[in-house]
Amino acid sequence: MTDYLDDARRILAANDRGGYTVPTDRLYPFQWNWDSAFVAMGFAAYDIPRAYRELERLVEGQWADGMIPHIVFHAPSDTYFPGADVWRTAHTIPTSGITQPPVFGIALKKVHDAATNRGMEDARARSLVLYEAALRWHRWWYAARDPEATGLVALLHPWESGSDNSPAWDIALARVPTTTETIVIRKDIGHVHAAMRPRDEDYHRFIHLVDVYATCEWDPARQWAAAPFKIAEVQTTAILLKSGEALLTLAREFGRTFDAKELEEFNARSRRALLAQWRPPLRRFVSRDLISGADIEAPTQACFCPLLALDLQPAMLDAAMEEMELWSEGLTVLFPSTKPNYPGFEAKRYWRGPVWAIINWLLIDGLRRNHEMEMAEKLRHLTLTSIETNGFAEYFDPLTGEGCGGLGFSWTAAAYIVLSQSRETAETK
Ligand code: DGY
Repeated sequence: MTDYLDDARRILAANDRGGYTVPTDRLYPFQWNWDSAFVAMGFAAYDIPRAYRELERLVEGQWADGMIPHIVFHAPSDTYFPGADVWRTAHTIPTSGITQPPVFGIALKKVHDAATNRGMEDARARSLVLYEAALRWHRWWYAARDPEATGLVALLHPWESGSDNSPAWDIALARVPTTTETIVIRKDIGHVHAAMRPRDEDYHRFIHLVDVYATCEWDPARQWAAAPFKIAEVQTTAILLKSGEALLTLAREFGRTFDAKELEEFNARSRRALLAQWRPPLRRFVSRDLISGADIEAPTQACFCPLLALDLQPAMLDAAMEEMELWSEGLTVLFPSTKPNYPGFEAKRYWRGPVWAIINWLLIDGLRRNHEMEMAEKLRHLTLTSIETNGFAEYFDPLTGEGCGGLGFSWTAAAYIVLSQSRETAETK
């Protein structure tokens, strides 16, 4: 009998590059921000010091203004584009210049709780340093990415969403020119079939944005003013709020009264703002394009991520559940990153349809929070069985279940470790 848990741990060990874990060999040869947060939660199940280490190594990339970048280039590699030279940033350890979903706070609390439950001696000291880094990052989010204090934080690059080529960006990204100062030399399609990756045109727009922000010398205010792509985004805000709740609990535990007050205010602001993004006729939440002022109505997984951080009223919850059921009809594996009958849906192309184990993990936590235990269990079961059947792939085709993208993937392994051990556990706030 195959021991899939053993396999998952072996993948994390194989992707270890010295206290940090690459998402997968060659395709992603550095430390990625939200990948590492998920991986740390995987490690927390069996190796707590290593879980701390993952977060500590990520924080080595934190900027003086508080931002934690989406990639930390700890060691050189020529198998990835865009490498450190394209980003032109000034941090001592080379990093990218943009950020990624702030799962860090959620992970820190999981690691801290595991460490305290085990009675680990240095738990408090190690957690405190990471807590302070996380709080600085949350302050950066609210200052740099929500300067008008709306409660919704904005993304200036699709890579910041982690859902790079989601149909959610189609309209906004079409406004970004395809011209670049940097020569685009894609490496990803040397590792993974081009049909499973973003298109060339997308890459040119991605790099155009990098060029624009490098010209702003990565100054948040200058970038905000110059940004040709600016989305007040519900998935990121929900993750920020959920992390904010985790940090608030830690602030109280550490006796940080002033921090707690500040976090309460951040959280209340984002909670109100997220609720205001619910659209009854669509039965889901929507992000806003801050350049056009329009709602983003493309149906993607992001529309349900607010469950993670909100306690929905029954009518809203019932409507969201009906919509989720509708998207699930006829699929082999759930939950699709794009609604299957939407014209922009593509079953194998990265964020335009495939199922992602870490998105399921977030949705499962959100469903449990909202007492939707049946759907949570269905999603959990399907996530585990599709990994067992199709391998620890980066993502899965929702129609066939086929594993796609990179293989031996760290966050899929972490999701397997966490979800296989959490059958009956109700979500802890
Ligand atoms: C990539 O290169 O595909 C990454 O998603 C960017 O962070």
